Amino acid sequence: MSEKLKVGILGGTGMVGQRFISLLENHPWFEVTTIAASPRSAGQRYEDAVGGRWKMDTPMPAAVKDIIVKNVNEVEEVAKEVDFVFSAVDMSKDEIKAIEEAYAKTETPVVSNNSAHRWTPDVPMVVPEINPQHMDVIEFQKKRLGTTRGFVAVKPNCSIQSYAPVLTAWKEFEPYEVVVTTYQAISGAGKTFKDWPEMEHNIIPFISGEEEKSEKEPLRIWGEIKDGVIVPADDVKITSQCIRVPVLNGHTAAVFVKFKKQPTKQQLIDAINNFSGVPQELKLPSAPKQFIRYMEEDNRPQVALDVDYENGMGINVGRLREDSIYDWKFVGLSHNTVRGAAGGAVLCAELLKAQGYITAK
Ligand SMILES: NC(=O)c1ccc[n+]([C@@H]2O[C@H](COP(=O)([O-])OP(=O)(O)OC[C@H]3O[C@@H](n4cnc5c(N)ncnc54)[C@H](OP(=O)(O)O)[C@@H]3O)[C@@H](O)[C@H]2O)c1
Repeated sequence: MSEKLKVGILGGTGMVGQRFISLLENHPWFEVTTIAASPRSAGQRYEDAVGGRWKMDTPMPAAVKDIIVKNVNEVEEVAKEVDFVFSAVDMSKDEIKAIEEAYAKTETPVVSNNSAHRWTPDVPMVVPEINPQHMDVIEFQKKRLGTTRGFVAVKPNCSIQSYAPVLTAWKEFEPYEVVVTTYQAISGAGKTFKDWPEMEHNIIPFISGEEEKSEKEPLRIWGEIKDGVIVPADDVKITSQCIRVPVLNGHTAAVFVKFKKQPTKQQLIDAINNFSGVPQELKLPSAPKQFIRYMEEDNRPQVALDVDYENGMGINVGRLREDSIYDWKFVGLSHNTVRGAAGGAVLCAELLKAQGYITAK
């Protein structure tokens, strides 16, 4: 019998759900045993429920094709089959909040890709290389929920992954003012060019809610646990513009930074290349060996060449140069549906298992 932990994917038929299923094929610790989606898909074989909507480059894993899709709303039915769930359902924020807590209350840990709980004060929002210690707030959340092993943990928005890790690597130089423009791929909206043909040869200067997330979420990641809640940092100001561009996968960020301490270019590059965290120390299965890399070529990072660096889990940085108004500027690139969505959540779950928060039921 398999000793892997049994995993359910809530929203498994959607784009992020499909990415979870692809990433978990042959995972050494986790096995997808259960898939849940809307009542429209419930009762069907997974392959039939997805139909022509499979959006991954790799084929659908054979092991999931015959799984009968369950209804996300039948919480007990889903929860009794699994050790924990990944959440990628698309419902209203209030519905997602409620359903994720309902799963947690069945003593089923929820690792969520959704934004609904990102500002719930006792829910950790974690990039495992940056703030693994925030998982400690789970003990306070469990008290609130009245659970012994059930809780919700989330990963942050895809847009921040192209610059927040870089600013973290530069913490010793005290960045305090940041201007960022993100150029975001259409898969971030759950779309391909087939279902969003208007995006070909086009740019749309608006992504609902994205600028607020891009400005505020890094502060929560750099925050501290005080009195059982996460208190965001307040020593960095970020302003952003988020633009949708005709790219399938990969969010690029053009960033300007002011520092309190003046680093040299070489110090900044060394800090990027040498930055690593708990996932690298523990050699978690999805951890990139090199979390952030600096590219010297003037025309890198490029989406077409670099988005899959470290299987989509690494961050690419280039074009670091002095600025005439700010101190330094650079360009970052990360994979929005791998590091920025499902892959980031899988790494969180691996960290939670390593920390003892996720166990077999
Ligand atoms: N795409 C990204 O890169 C990305 C990044 C970060 C966060 N997110 C967030 O992740 C979530 C999923 O995104 P996505 O792009 O994967 O969306 P999607 O492709 O539209 O998939 C949505 C999933 O939710 C299910 N669903 C929809 N309405 C439901 C309902 N009323 N009750 C229960 N299940 C329902 C769908 O099931 P059916 O197939 O049965 O309809 C499907 O499994 C969203 O909240 C999105 O904002 C996405």
